[in-house]
Amino acid sequence: MATLASAITTGPGPARDVVPRVPIPAKGVDYRNKIVLAPMVRSGELPSRLLALKYGADLVWGPETISRALIGTERRVNPRNGTIEFTRMPSNGGRPNKPSKESVIYRIDPVREKGRLIFQLGTASPELAVAAARVVADDVSGIDVNAGCPKPFSTSGGMGAALLRTPDLLVSILETLVKEVGEPYQIGISVKIRIFSDPEETEALVSRLVKTGITALTVHCRTTPMRPREAAIRDQLRMITSICHNAGVACVMNGDVKSRDHGLELMNEYGVDGAMIATSAETNSSCFRTKEDGGIAPWREVVYEYLRFCIESENRLGNTKYLLNMLIPGKDKEFKDTKLSKTYLDICRGLKFDDLLPDAMALDQILGLDDKWESVPPVTHSLAQSEPDTPTQSEHKSKAVQNAMQSETARAAGGGGVRTKTPLPAVHGGGPIRRSSAPRPATVTQVDDEQPAVEAPIPAPQTEAPSQVTA
Ligand SMILES: Cc1cc2nc3c(=O)[nH]c(=O)nc-3n(C[C@H](O)[C@H](O)[C@H](O)COP(=O)(O)O)c2cc1C
Repeated sequence: MATLASAITTGPGPARDVVPRVPIPAKGVDYRNKIVLAPMVRSGELPSRLLALKYGADLVWGPETISRALIGTERRVNPRNGTIEFTRMPSNGGRPNKPSKESVIYRIDPVREKGRLIFQLGTASPELAVAAARVVADDVSGIDVNAGCPKPFSTSGGMGAALLRTPDLLVSILETLVKEVGEPYQIGISVKIRIFSDPEETEALVSRLVKTGITALTVHCRTTPMRPREAAIRDQLRMITSICHNAGVACVMNGDVKSRDHGLELMNEYGVDGAMIATSAETNSSCFRTKEDGGIAPWREVVYEYLRFCIESENRLGNTKYLLNMLIPGKDKEFKDTKLSKTYLDICRGLKFDDLLPDAMALDQILGLDDKWESVPPVTHSLAQSEPDTPTQSEHKSKAVQNAMQSETARAAGGGGVRTKTPLPAVHGGGPIRRSSAPRPATVTQVDDEQPAVEAPIPAPQTEAPSQVTA
């Protein structure tokens, strides 16, 4: 396939250098000069992405999602917070004696992620890749193909790093995505790879990939067998960058980039166009903030902001706890308390984030976690002890929040006893409601905190392995 690179000229005077550049589609985004959040299964859900953006990430990748997990999902706007949710019912019909709950496969904030979200696909089939990418193409700024995951459950399905060994297939996936999704939806298609230990093999692969019409290539500077703790190898970076640049494709580096400042230094040193951060951001997203702007923030500040985003986004409790595990230092008492928490109320109380308690309780109700409130000993937190709200404050609280506050206050005051669960109306004021997209009529949804992030019945004949999500 002919390269889509168009020649553009830079620099003053008649002897200007001619630099080809694959055009960035109208609704796409240029990865150049960006420090970005890496795709991370579990660690890259919506609240983590919002946290990274808050601290200065220029772009955020969502966690890899297997194409067939996305195909057949229902897209709807959550009427409480305006997020776009792609949902499906569990394939096994749920557990015996328990009504089935929908799983949210992917969640997007159409306002705060606008122009900054890249969706990463796990796939081993051009047809499935296209079918899946079309589901989200209107809501994201780019589709990235994962060709670097080394986990057996990914590679055994021919996805992830296995694609490095099947370059014809990888090229075909990218070309098909460019033609059938990138062009009609006007978004960019990109790929994330690892290096081979033999630079010539890397060179041969990259030389083919940059001719597929992709706008960008991210290189994780480790080979497939390398463990995450092994230091990234950067000696192939200049060669890869040069191939990308000759074809007009942006080159983003990944591997042991510690912070925005560090990323900028490396970009300068190796001539790459952007830098991607994974594990450093997982531990403390304020790594996206320059030293000049305050640098690394104390963990309590980061955890507070993270929890706020979790509550607003109605994030699954299990996922929230997973990331809190990374954000809270293991030696702190709060680490153990959070691990044992069964509700958002528990977490916010344990961390003494009293101003988050009303919304935490409201979310527990939405998620059906409020029946676990009895399992924690009554505490007297500032909310229970505080003066009643002023009328103005009360007006701003939803009925659900008020109910939750009343029952919590009564319980803390010794009212104890068995709570009866108050069913919530479909729409309440548990979080800020943004309506950037017209909400469709809401079906009341319970998000299951025990379900894996992806629950994937197979809607159509497919060739991929029955794995869920990959790391
Ligand atoms: C928890 C976790 C989940 C990951 N999930 C993905 C993924 O979904 N897709 C992907 O391409 N890479 C994934 N990776 C790899 C990272 O994107 C990145 O390439 C790797 O961690 C190296 O970057 P670092 O040195 O900054 O950590 C994951 C890494 C971690 C730690």
